[in-house]
Amino acid sequence: MAKAKTIFFCTNCGHQSGKWIGKCPSCSEWNTFEEEVVSKPTSKDTGNIANIKSVPTAVQDISSDNEKRIDTKSIELNRVLGGGLVAGSVVLFGGEPGIGKSTLLLQVALNLEGKKILYISGEESQQQIKMRANRIGIQNPECYLLNETFTDSIFKHCKDVNPDLIVIDSIQTLHTDIIDSSPGSISQIRETASQLQRYAKSTNIPVLLIGHITKDGNLAGPKVLEHMVDTVLQFEGDRHYGFRILRSVKNRFGSTSELGIYEMQSTGLREVTNPSEILLSQRDELTSGVAIAAMVEGQRPLLIETQALIGTAAYGTPQRSSTGFDLRRLNMLLAVLEKRSGFKLSTKDVFLNIAGGLKVDDPAIDIAVVAAIISSFEDVAIPPNVCFAGEIGLSGEIRAVSHVENRISEAEKLGFEKIVLSKYSLKNVNLKRYKIEVIPVSKVGELVDVLL
Ligand code: TYD
Ligand code: MG
Repeated sequence: MAKAKTIFFCTNCGHQSGKWIGKCPSCSEWNTFEEEVVSKPTSKDTGNIANIKSVPTAVQDISSDNEKRIDTKSIELNRVLGGGLVAGSVVLFGGEPGIGKSTLLLQVALNLEGKKILYISGEESQQQIKMRANRIGIQNPECYLLNETFTDSIFKHCKDVNPDLIVIDSIQTLHTDIIDSSPGSISQIRETASQLQRYAKSTNIPVLLIGHITKDGNLAGPKVLEHMVDTVLQFEGDRHYGFRILRSVKNRFGSTSELGIYEMQSTGLREVTNPSEILLSQRDELTSGVAIAAMVEGQRPLLIETQALIGTAAYGTPQRSSTGFDLRRLNMLLAVLEKRSGFKLSTKDVFLNIAGGLKVDDPAIDIAVVAAIISSFEDVAIPPNVCFAGEIGLSGEIRAVSHVENRISEAEKLGFEKIVLSKYSLKNVNLKRYKIEVIPVSKVGELVDVLL
């Protein structure tokens, strides 16, 4: 019989300690240690050389057949996964409660016609899941639902059903009897996840895990969980908007800069294959302070609306507020505008908003932000058929951006007639291919001339 023992774990990073400590020596967080009962494996389980089955193999002799990818029948999910689901991989889906994780994975399971899926839920009853399935629409007759949280029974059922794909909702509800602590505790999460990881690798069946996130936006459970799985996807979005964004945070089989966009509807999640349509807000009249940025996230072009409002500061210190854009970067752009083009912005309130609740990383959004600010400051509207792409440097130069042709063709496709681009991005671009007018700019001053 295993010997019971208590250990303290850091709930943030999973660091172990024999006694309680206030500050984690590993991640420097305060007050994160919790006591858990663990049982030491008996000596029989460890260090037994007779059990070793692995053999070293030369790289060229290893077949890469198991890199074959399963088409998830969802363009967005395939893209985020890097081209489909890799056999034997473990994918973790994180997200706030109610964002739509269960809906997304049930939808994947129900749409995968011709594949056998085992959907294991520790959170909802079969009837509840069935109700949701009815809303989504069932296309796959071989989608099996199971209410189970004990990992040994799960593996037994997997053996009986022999599925092509396993979905677990959620990792925090699973438990194993190797460990005495309660489900959701760090040692349980760690142990059950590693059991699933071993199962996926040995059977080549992919496992999709749902994981809860904590109030500060991290995946609940130790960082170890993120290290153990192959891919971590984050499902996020503003609950007041219908849009949901699936972002890849870690991916052993593809790029992490891809994103998928969905819209929550009464019949489940709809894939948004042309996101620019929803990200450009509908306007009937021209207003100042709005500029469209031609962005690229991963490989994917997106046209996004940036909105700025400049007002006279009513109180001594002007306010600077930004949604979806880094505030420090906004302050830097304001300083550049003031210094290089003489706009007196230091006494003004500046509010900036990226439409659609998106957070963007692409630095090419800079000149759209600046254009929106100038437009609001001068109260001159920017014509709706113009869009912008370029990064701004400290000396006011407009720097080259990546994926120029992607941006130009997306803008043209969506009916824009002019695109303002950094002059330095146009070196190797054949502009004759496009009908859209390209306006090259190299300094903030030139951008101001284009606008006013
Ligand atoms: P859910 O998948 O249960 O979220 P999670 O598993 O991340 O906690 O999604 C719940 C929300 O989605 C709920 O507020 C209702 C909404 N929803 C729809 O709007 N349409 C639908 O077809 C479904 C199934 C859910
Ligand atoms: Mg759920």
